Amino acid sequence: MATKLFMFVGFFALISCFKTPSTSDISETVHRLFETIRGMQATKTMLPDPPLEWAKFKGNYESDVKLYFHGNSTMSALRYMFKVYDNNMFATAWITSCLVEAYRYGNAPKPTEDQITMSVDAIMDHRNKNLKYENSIMAFWPQILDEEFKVYQSTPVNLLAMFNLTQTTNWTVVYELFDKIGLHDVTEIMKHLLATREGYQHVFKIPPDFDDTSVNLGLGSLLRDNVMYFPYASAAWEGQNSNLSSVFNAMKHYAYRPLSGDRRVNTIDTRTYFYMRKFLEKAASEKKDVSLVTTWVQDLADVKTQYFQGIDTPGNVNNVDITVCANALFGITNAILSGLVTSEVLYDPVLQQLYLNTSTMIEFQIQTNFSGRPDLALTYYPSVFEFYWFVARTYTQLERKARIGELPHEAMRTVMEGLGSALKGNMTQHVISQSKMEGSDMIYYDDFLGDGDIDNNKKPVEFGEDRLWTTSMAINALITTWTVYNDATQKLNWYDDTPTEVKTTVQKATTWLNTYILSGKYQPWNAFFSGSFKGFGTSWSSYPANRDEYFNGTKVPHDGKRHYGEIIRGMEGVMEEDWYQQQIKLDHAPVDFHGYNKQSDFFPFWNSEPYTYVTSLLALSTFTNIE
Ligand SMILES: *[C@@H]1O[C@H](CO)[C@@H](O)[C@H](O)[C@H]1NC(C)=O
Ligand SMILES: *[C@@H]1O[C@H](CO)[C@@H](O)[C@H](O)[C@H]1NC(C)=O
Ligand SMILES: *[C@@H]1O[C@H](CO)[C@@H](O)[C@H](O)[C@H]1NC(C)=O
Ligand SMILES: *[C@@H]1O[C@H](CO)[C@@H](O)[C@H](O)[C@H]1NC(C)=O
Ligand SMILES: *[C@@H]1O[C@H](CO)[C@@H](O)[C@H](O)[C@H]1NC(C)=O
Ligand SMILES: *[C@@H]1O[C@H](CO)[C@@H](O)[C@H](O)[C@H]1NC(C)=O
Ligand SMILES: *[C@@H]1O[C@H](CO)[C@@H](O)[C@H](O)[C@H]1NC(C)=O
Ligand SMILES: *[C@@H]1O[C@H](CO)[C@@H](O)[C@H](O)[C@H]1NC(C)=O
Repeated sequence: MATKLFMFVGFFALISCFKTPSTSDISETVHRLFETIRGMQATKTMLPDPPLEWAKFKGNYESDVKLYFHGNSTMSALRYMFKVYDNNMFATAWITSCLVEAYRYGNAPKPTEDQITMSVDAIMDHRNKNLKYENSIMAFWPQILDEEFKVYQSTPVNLLAMFNLTQTTNWTVVYELFDKIGLHDVTEIMKHLLATREGYQHVFKIPPDFDDTSVNLGLGSLLRDNVMYFPYASAAWEGQNSNLSSVFNAMKHYAYRPLSGDRRVNTIDTRTYFYMRKFLEKAASEKKDVSLVTTWVQDLADVKTQYFQGIDTPGNVNNVDITVCANALFGITNAILSGLVTSEVLYDPVLQQLYLNTSTMIEFQIQTNFSGRPDLALTYYPSVFEFYWFVARTYTQLERKARIGELPHEAMRTVMEGLGSALKGNMTQHVISQSKMEGSDMIYYDDFLGDGDIDNNKKPVEFGEDRLWTTSMAINALITTWTVYNDATQKLNWYDDTPTEVKTTVQKATTWLNTYILSGKYQPWNAFFSGSFKGFGTSWSSYPANRDEYFNGTKVPHDGKRHYGEIIRGMEGVMEEDWYQQQIKLDHAPVDFHGYNKQSDFFPFWNSEPYTYVTSLLALSTFTNIE
């Protein structure tokens, strides 16, 4: 009987090998994914009792902080074990956006208004409560009042609870236990973790940021664009975001302007400067001004007081992350296209410059392979394919409106043409070149999670823990770049000039994704977010600086010692490349990136399983809606 069953299954597997999935196969996957995602939303708030129960806020979808241990089997076991539930708005906002888009642009079921509104309400707790006026400046974690300083701080409740727990634990007992059961390696690692916990605790005290701010704006625009389908959720969002000029004003105020001579904003994180300098040197030599969206809503004037209130940009100096920039472009573009704000926003020359320059910079990074340093350019969001998809989202909405003659501002045409050429050129080329074949009719994509382990014979093994996610993102990047939504037919259409290779890649990757997404063979993991520090080569102290001073302006002595704390160390203005090259040599700065698996350091990353499921839902449901 068993043999028969086995043969039967084998026979089926054989048939399915030769068939691309029919629309009905995909449609069943889409429905199952939709239900899976719905089951991963917290429908009530739960109080923490770590490590047994983590705080979960109503409306959020699960995401977890993990540590990227990799190497031998002890290390990979630790990677599976370590997991702290995290309440951040980024994952929830994206999952909500994808649900709406999969319904609108694809063939996915319609999420209920309640499902969407619960998340919108959760997100509202992330607003900057320290400002005395209505605003939509958002932080990654909920804002909770600090009794001591009387300021609201962005607070990762579960991580803090975990740190509290480590303070009251008798580690001698734990270590003895681990040693006794033969886990001495684990003991050593725990000791190291505990020794560095103060550092981690400090980098958790972060200011609001332009990523969450832009993602929230993007979500509001999407709801506005779909007000017919989600009238209550849209009204809930707009009711709580009544002063959107707060976003545009802050973007302008905190923009990185290296050539402005304004010491509040002309200085940047040393790692940003390393990857950005080719773009900056080119602009400077062509006598072009530069203004770019930054990550943190904090400048070098603010930090001098906020630092002491527990609101602090890690490293004190702002940076530019191209993923944040991509989301800012989407937020600005779609706030206007959806009618949330008027195109007046772009008639403001300061905002217009920020919009145009940020887009030009993104194109430059796509065309130059991120200046060879994706690890620095994608400062907090290590996935290249996620970044591509974020960029393509702006482009496709501009095309959609341009086709019906509704682009409200000339600057938008410039952005559309610039992004379009980078996406259809280098981006597409890069995605295609990264394809991996499985058999002759399936394609998948890997990033880095789970591909850095060795087995007991020291042979490398690939677990492809982010394979599902990365494949879905590659499909989303290609579909979003090469199709446009037709409002009249409610279908997606390939552009006439779409290369056959793009269509077959999407077809084969969809077949792979549909086969494996719910098969249990691969982890549905991702590294959708991470600390900026990801091991060797990602520390700000490794790169040249031409400004190194205490908050009071006194120069930090160059006495060979390392100085920490109330210090501003960054790159001011734009320097000559010759000077920079000399400094690289003097500082022994790490020039090349070899991959996160090529070094032994472990670092925190954020994983959200529902996010993997929803990006797959989007990929599969839009694929079946292409006409
Ligand atoms: C596993 O790797 C860790 C970290 O590199 C190391 O400390 C430990 O000794 C290794 N264990 C074995 C059994 O090789
Ligand atoms: C951590 O411990 C401190 C002091 O014991 C306490 O005030 C705080 O509420 C605790 N925080 C969390 C998140 O449990
Ligand atoms: C921790 O446990 C060890 C061994 O049982 C004991 O000797 C020590 O006093 C304990 N430490 C504290 C702070 O309770
Ligand atoms: C809106 O935000 C701006 C700051 O950008 C602020 O000056 C203004 O007072 C806010 N308006 C309201 C009604 O709170
Ligand atoms: C930035 O935008 C301004 C205003 O449009 C423009 O004059 C300048 O050349 C742009 N800079 C770059 C580097 O493209
Ligand atoms: C980007 O495309 C251009 C034109 O095809 C090519 O010359 C350049 O090498 C590409 N850049 C990268 C990083 O592949
Ligand atoms: C892009 O940069 C990465 C990381 O530095 C490098 O491994 C890769 O070979 C580069 N690709 C191209 C096409 O230059
Ligand atoms: C500036 O701050 C540093 C570090 O706190 C201190 O050593 C120095 O004396 C201060 N300088 C002045 C002029 O106050």
